[in-house]
Amino acid sequence: MKKLTITRPDDWHLHVRTGAILKTVMPHTARRFARAIIMPNLKPPVTTVVQALAYREEILQAVPADLDFTPLMTLYLTGATTADEIRKAAECEHVQAFKLYPAGATTHSDAGISDIKAAYPLLEAMEKHDVPLLIHGEVTDEACDIFDRERVFVDTALADIVKNFPELRVVVEHVTTTEAVQFVQSTGARIGATITPQHLMFNRNALLAGGIRPHHYCLPIIKREHHRQALVAAATSGNPKFFLGTDSAPHLTSLKEAACGCAGCYSAHAALELYAEVFEWADALDKLEGFASFHGADFYHLPRNSGTIILEKTTWKVPAAYGDDSVSITPLKADEELTWQIAQ
Ligand code: DOR
Ligand code: ZN
Repeated sequence: MKKLTITRPDDWHLHVRTGAILKTVMPHTARRFARAIIMPNLKPPVTTVVQALAYREEILQAVPADLDFTPLMTLYLTGATTADEIRKAAECEHVQAFKLYPAGATTHSDAGISDIKAAYPLLEAMEKHDVPLLIHGEVTDEACDIFDRERVFVDTALADIVKNFPELRVVVEHVTTTEAVQFVQSTGARIGATITPQHLMFNRNALLAGGIRPHHYCLPIIKREHHRQALVAAATSGNPKFFLGTDSAPHLTSLKEAACGCAGCYSAHAALELYAEVFEWADALDKLEGFASFHGADFYHLPRNSGTIILEKTTWKVPAAYGDDSVSITPLKADEELTWQIAQ
């Protein structure tokens, strides 16, 4: 059997929610990843170090006892964030970064930033304290076509942030376009990017393949085939600016299969296996370890993990749903076969 052994990976962009959903999804991530950057877009959002530490405890309670997993917390940047909170975050070993959501861009982003320039004093504090800024890079202008929102953000807001804060470390989260990839490639080492499995696997046809496919709907929305190819090329290039971030975003099946379905793909059940498929298609399995296990840790100035994980080439069928009677989450590739499996 074909086997692949790599250093234990980390997920540099993850949503786990709270309560029953957290309990359902946490074992999937902890079985595969040593650490994950936890997104703060709860309701209400995680805006302070005190809240992040309480959320961290709740996450740790949901990790199965036999698994060793470290949540890396982030704070949600709002108009009410203070420079003092940024200093506290910099001093807290459990908090790694701030997340900037343009207000209205995505799920639970209403508390986000409506005027990015007005938040520049906060970005200056992050630059001073060397706290990374994680950005959901889409403009929210209703008049802007949804497929263009990332490209326009990159050309305008992102270019301006990078120019104005020359020392600020920035992660352009879940890049989806050729333009975002090129921007990241052409800027200095302090600008990195995460790439999700769904944006590597699917182009926008997957949203409307024989009918509307709510489980492929996420934000930023999946794009045309040439963008997907640019993402695969970036992820498999060995360039340390690109690293694994699933953006696994669990929603109840009933809220996705709805007249107004929520944005977010659930991928934690098979995250590493999905990336392995993509890297194998691209004949680049030798580049998976850097992307999954080294580049993100180096960017965040954290030590690389020491253990290993083994992937085996064995076909298995993804269940139709995870959870129980009260929580049902439909995963990416539900009821379909995957060709890589985590060794038990
Ligand atoms: O599709 C998405 N879902 N994009 C985001 O930015 C947020 C996420 C969520 O929290 O569900
Ligand atoms: Zn996200």
